[in-house]
Amino acid sequence: MLTAATLVASILALHLPSPVIAQSVFAHVFIGNTAGYGVAQWTSDIKLAAKYHIDGFVLNIATPYDGTTSTQLSLAFQAIDALPASVSFKLLLSFDYLGGAGAWVDADVIKIMKTYGPNGAYFHVDGKPMVSTFEGPSNSNIQDWLYINGSIPGGIYFVPDWTSLGSEGFSTDLVDGAFSWDMWPDGPENVSTVADSAWVDWLSPARKSYMMGVSPMFYTDLPAYNKAWVWRGDDTWWRRWQQVLEVLPEFVEIVTWNDFGESHYVGPIYHPGVPNTPTANATAYVDGYSHQAWLRTLPYQIAAYKHAYNPTNPAPKVAKDKIVYWYRNAPATAGNTKVTGNNCKSDINLFGYQTCFAVSDVLQDSIFAIVLATKSVTATISIGSGEPTVFLNLTAGINFISRPFSGETGKVKVSLSSGAHGEGPAIVSEPVRGVANFNAYVQCAGGC
Ligand SMILES: *[C@@H]1O[C@H](CO)[C@@H](O)[C@H](O)[C@H]1NC(C)=O
Ligand SMILES: *[C@@H]1O[C@H](CO)[C@@H](O)[C@H](O)[C@H]1NC(C)=O
Ligand SMILES: *[C@@H]1O[C@H](CO)[C@@H](O)[C@H](O)[C@H]1NC(C)=O
Ligand SMILES: *[C@@H]1O[C@H](CO)[C@@H](O)[C@H](O)[C@H]1NC(C)=O
Repeated sequence: MLTAATLVASILALHLPSPVIAQSVFAHVFIGNTAGYGVAQWTSDIKLAAKYHIDGFVLNIATPYDGTTSTQLSLAFQAIDALPASVSFKLLLSFDYLGGAGAWVDADVIKIMKTYGPNGAYFHVDGKPMVSTFEGPSNSNIQDWLYINGSIPGGIYFVPDWTSLGSEGFSTDLVDGAFSWDMWPDGPENVSTVADSAWVDWLSPARKSYMMGVSPMFYTDLPAYNKAWVWRGDDTWWRRWQQVLEVLPEFVEIVTWNDFGESHYVGPIYHPGVPNTPTANATAYVDGYSHQAWLRTLPYQIAAYKHAYNPTNPAPKVAKDKIVYWYRNAPATAGNTKVTGNNCKSDINLFGYQTCFAVSDVLQDSIFAIVLATKSVTATISIGSGEPTVFLNLTAGINFISRPFSGETGKVKVSLSSGAHGEGPAIVSEPVRGVANFNAYVQCAGGC
């Protein structure tokens, strides 16, 4: 039956750019780090992500397919099927062309998409299953995707990450959208939207979508993988979500849920997924460094994005005052390390390509915090027995504050005039055993 409302809706739909189902926020999950997960652990992770308003997981899968990858995919989909009807959560796949045993074989991709693409738990756009990649930008890989798309009845909604080619590095005719892995600050610079804007400027005239990456930090010290560098975290979790409001991409991908070796996980620490060999051991910098408090800011940030993207979505609202605060526990100059500021060439970073900086030129010795307030509040942050720094007149909604270590050491204490009090691990002048650790303690106080 054609009512006035459906008529208006169908006329509007004609004028809306594809994709019509946009404004979704995903988190990037490395299946390689979930070996040993059972359905119960998948269910628990999915419920946690859904609780903080993440719409779905992008499951990064590497070759070979048979074995852990196929088992874990099956378990993840089983977990969605077992969710209570009140929890809506989707999965989509990102085929990793750099990790594992190398590029994917077309027949495996087709088999996987024929199996999972039609599943109700799979994320669809315009009736097609959305598919992403991690790299795979060679000409032959690109040709593979035309063949894969043609082999799936109805085709796929294809949003690869071919960041190494750059925006304008391939024809928009080949894709439905693009995802950019370029989401961290360069050296001492603030994280910027220069790369995002270039992608959007190229994609949107062709009516293709953009998936923007948001990551809180990046710190890795795994010599066996030729990786020992840091990119600035500091205010990035705040700044990047603000940038989402400027760019207004169709999709956001949080990087990551569970990459422990690169320290940008926001999901629970799962010990078997933490690199732990004599030459690639992240245990010392991951153990005891839960990042889950970062999830606490997400409902507000995600609502702000969806409302800005489409004002018919509800405006963001703070339910309870809280302060989410994070910091490294020692000055950036303290302790021994071979870690460099930026991914620049060193005897460990054999493939480094950026300008080298001292870590202390990249990282700020400060405590950073997001305050979510129902009405105007005052916040304080103190270190040890030092005088608290007072932040007056924070506004209802979301606020960002920070204060430098200023040479002080001792426990970090925070408070809000509306009643929250929190205490985090001590800032020290020398790290444990004299070894630098640039991971962040992330804490929440108040209505967390
Ligand atoms: C993918 O397949 C669909 C359905 O057959 C088709 O409409 C679309 O043009 C294909 N995409 C590309 C890039 O070839
Ligand atoms: C980063 O942005 C802040 C303001 O938000 C500014 O004070 C600071 O100078 C900027 N840093 C750099 C390196 O541009
Ligand atoms: C990895 O580091 C942890 C913490 O320092 C240590 O307990 C463990 O023995 C190390 N593992 C290996 C395989 O060296
Ligand atoms: C800021 O807070 C102080 C102390 O609570 C108060 O006296 C002052 O009126 C506030 N200023 C504004 C502009 O709200």
